[in-house]
Amino acid sequence: MSKLFEPGEINGMKLENRFVRSATWEGMAADDGSCTPKLISLMADLARGGVGLIISSHAYVQKVGQAGARQIGIHNDDMIPGLKKMTAAVHEQRGKIVCQLAHAGFFGNAKLSGQTPIAPSSVEGIAEGPRREMNQEDIDGVIDAFSAAAGRAKSAGFDGVQIHGAHGYLLCEFISPMFNFRSDEYGGTIENRARLPLEVFKAIRKAVGNDYPVLIKLSCKEFTDNGLMPQEFVQVGKILADAGIDAIEVSGGLPISPKTRPSQLGINREEKEAYFQEEAAALKKQVDVPIILVGGNRSFHVAERIVEEGMADYISMARPLIREPHLINRWKAGDLTPSACVSDNMCFQPAIEGKGIYCVTEKREKEK
Ligand SMILES: Cc1cc2nc3c(=O)[nH]c(=O)nc-3n(C[C@H](O)[C@H](O)[C@H](O)COP(=O)(O)O)c2cc1C
Repeated sequence: MSKLFEPGEINGMKLENRFVRSATWEGMAADDGSCTPKLISLMADLARGGVGLIISSHAYVQKVGQAGARQIGIHNDDMIPGLKKMTAAVHEQRGKIVCQLAHAGFFGNAKLSGQTPIAPSSVEGIAEGPRREMNQEDIDGVIDAFSAAAGRAKSAGFDGVQIHGAHGYLLCEFISPMFNFRSDEYGGTIENRARLPLEVFKAIRKAVGNDYPVLIKLSCKEFTDNGLMPQEFVQVGKILADAGIDAIEVSGGLPISPKTRPSQLGINREEKEAYFQEEAAALKKQVDVPIILVGGNRSFHVAERIVEEGMADYISMARPLIREPHLINRWKAGDLTPSACVSDNMCFQPAIEGKGIYCVTEKREKEK
């Protein structure tokens, strides 16, 4: 049997295989952030499709941290009943689901929240509109919001939580030299820049206990000259691993231009696949926690080589599972044709238009 179909375990959470559905904003939540039947049925279908672990789309822990429309919220207790239905639907299909806890920070949506987005520093020139530099009260509020949200995720039946520490969102902004120009204990050295993600993790751990899986998604680089570099990413990963994080998903990129995006375009050759594999392998050498690799995983045998060579423990995908939610079952049944995802990022468009994500290219192909 391929190593990819061997069972896995993350802090007691038993997983049927080594495939993960990476967090994917579906644009299917209600305006107040609650789950809709359409979103719940998408999650159940993913579980039916054989993926070992589903990571929910980013759920905002504070209203000011909401990134976009029709995003799920976990910022208040009213969200719990809908989330309970989501976890129950996944469990009914024998799937596992972790909730991604997120704060968009600098990229918070002022129109939706009615508040000025908060950030480590009020840097200009990256995106339009004012940003407010966070004071200690804001920092304490963010830590409390993450730990309260983790408690809600646990009571809603999620099998664990994943802290969103990647893609230029708030916790990543604290780590990134491109966003953090602070002169207090949250700025300067990499230890200082990692302080907020570490404090958030410790507060979550306290809220949910030692035997509840707490994962983190981190950026390893940002495709910019002045952004986060792989060496510092490894240091941050080590700090979190030493503190007891249960798994690290390795990603990268920033939502500021098509070239820097976490969802890189045109992954149409094997050499372009798994575009953070070197960085994941560098981290894996330094830490003793499971490493989840995301970004351009498309071919079964490339994924298999990565896991067999010990570069990562789990293979995570977003766009291939939009195109084909049952991809893992297909591979398991022996059809190892790579994912048909052409990585054109057209899947964002229907979500932005309020129709919910789907593969636009596949639909066009079928209509021809
Ligand atoms: C439509 C869409 C929505 C996404 N939403 C999220 C999200 O909510 N949280 C997150 O961490 N990453 C998000 N991502 C990034 C993916 O999780 C993943 O890191 C990226 O797409 C690269 O993986 P892929 O090549 O398998 O798509 C999103 C990607 C897509 C295409």
